[in-house]
Amino acid sequence: MSELFTPITIRGVEARNRVWVSPMCEYSADDGIPNDWHMVHLGSRAVGGAGVVMTEATSVTPEGRITPWDTGIWSESHTTAWKPIVRFIESQGAVPAIQLAHAGRKASTNAPWRGGKPVAPADGGYEVVGPSALPFNDGYPTPHEMSTAEVRDVIDAFAEGAQRSVEAGFRILEMHAAHGYLVHQFLSPHTNKRTDEYGGSFEGRTRIAVEAARAIREAAPDTPLMVRISTTEYVEGGWDLEQSIALATLLKDAGVDMIDCSSGGNLPQQQLHPYPGYQVAASRAVREGAGIATAAVGLIVEPNHAESVIAGGDADVVLLGRELLRDPYWPLHAATALHADVEWPVQYQRAKP
Ligand SMILES: Cc1cc2nc3c(=O)[nH]c(=O)nc-3n(C[C@H](O)[C@H](O)[C@H](O)COP(=O)(O)O)c2cc1C
Repeated sequence: MSELFTPITIRGVEARNRVWVSPMCEYSADDGIPNDWHMVHLGSRAVGGAGVVMTEATSVTPEGRITPWDTGIWSESHTTAWKPIVRFIESQGAVPAIQLAHAGRKASTNAPWRGGKPVAPADGGYEVVGPSALPFNDGYPTPHEMSTAEVRDVIDAFAEGAQRSVEAGFRILEMHAAHGYLVHQFLSPHTNKRTDEYGGSFEGRTRIAVEAARAIREAAPDTPLMVRISTTEYVEGGWDLEQSIALATLLKDAGVDMIDCSSGGNLPQQQLHPYPGYQVAASRAVREGAGIATAAVGLIVEPNHAESVIAGGDADVVLLGRELLRDPYWPLHAATALHADVEWPVQYQRAKP
C-alpha cells in the first residue's frame, strides 16, 4: 500500500493523492491574465496525475507582481481568464489550487531568462513597497515604507483575491508568506523595522500574516487554506524554525489548514546549501510542534523518497517543483514504481504499464 497515493481530505476537499504541484512562476502573462501557456502547463500536470495543481505566485495587486509577466487575481477579468484553466484541471481529476502573493520589495524584476534584475517604472516596472525602506540588495530599489493604512489595504487585497479565486473555481488557496516576499519581509526582524502595530515584537511582525489569514478565511469560509512559509532565513538573528512553529500555531487558530514548509529568500547573505529533502525536517518540526498538517518541498525527486516522507510522518503531502517541469507525468510513473494502481487518462490507457 502506497501512502503517497492514498487520498487526503482537507476541510472537506479530497485530493486523489499526496503528490502536489509546487507553485512555479512562468513569467508568461500580460497584465496578470493567464493564457494558453498556463492552460497547457498546468493542464499537463493535471493529466500527469498530480493530486493538486497549484498555480504560480498570483498577485493580489498589480504592484505585487515579482515581474510584470506574473499572473494576477486583482480584477474580474482575471477571474474570467482563470475559469477555463481551473475547469480543465478539475476535469482531469486534480484539485485546482492558487497561490496568492505579493512580492513587496522584491517586485518589479525581470524574468530570469532576461537577467532577473529590477525593472524601473520608466521601463514598464512599478514602484515597490515594503515594511521598511530597505532595499533587497545593491542595485534594487528602496521600497516605499507602507503606511499602516496601506498594510490594511494589502490584507483586504488578499481577501478579495481569495474571493475571486473561489469564484474562478479554485478549491484550495495558499497564501505566500515565504521566500522574502511581502509577508516574509514583515516577519523578519532584519527587514521589518516598523514602529506601528505591524512591527517590533514577534506579535507585531506576525500580525500581517495572521490578519491576512483571518481575512482570507472570512472571505472563503469553506475553502482549504495553506500558508507557505520560509521556516528559516539562514541568517543569524533572523526568522527561524522556532518562530515558524509559533506562527504556525497562530495560523492554525486563524483557520489555516496546512503549512507549506519552504525556506530562505529574504536576505542575499543567506547561507543555503540544499540537498535532497533539505526542508523535510522543518516540515516535521512544524507538524509536531504546532499540531497542523504540513507540506514538504525541496529536492524531492525519487518516488521512494516521497513515499518515505509521507509514510514516516514528516509531512501530509509533498510538493514537487522542478521534477514536475522535467516530467509532468511523474505521479503516474511514481505510482507504477510504488505498485499503486492509479487511473490513467482514458486517452492514454493503452500506454499504461
Ligand atoms: C521556475 C520556478 C518558479 C518558482 N516560482 C515559485 C512561486 O511562484 N511561488 C513559490 O512559492 N515558489 C516558487 N518556486 C519554488 C518552488 O515552488 C519549490 O519550492 C522549489 O523549486 C523547491 O522544490 P523543487 O526542488 O521540487 O523544485 C519556483 C521554483 C522554480 C524552479
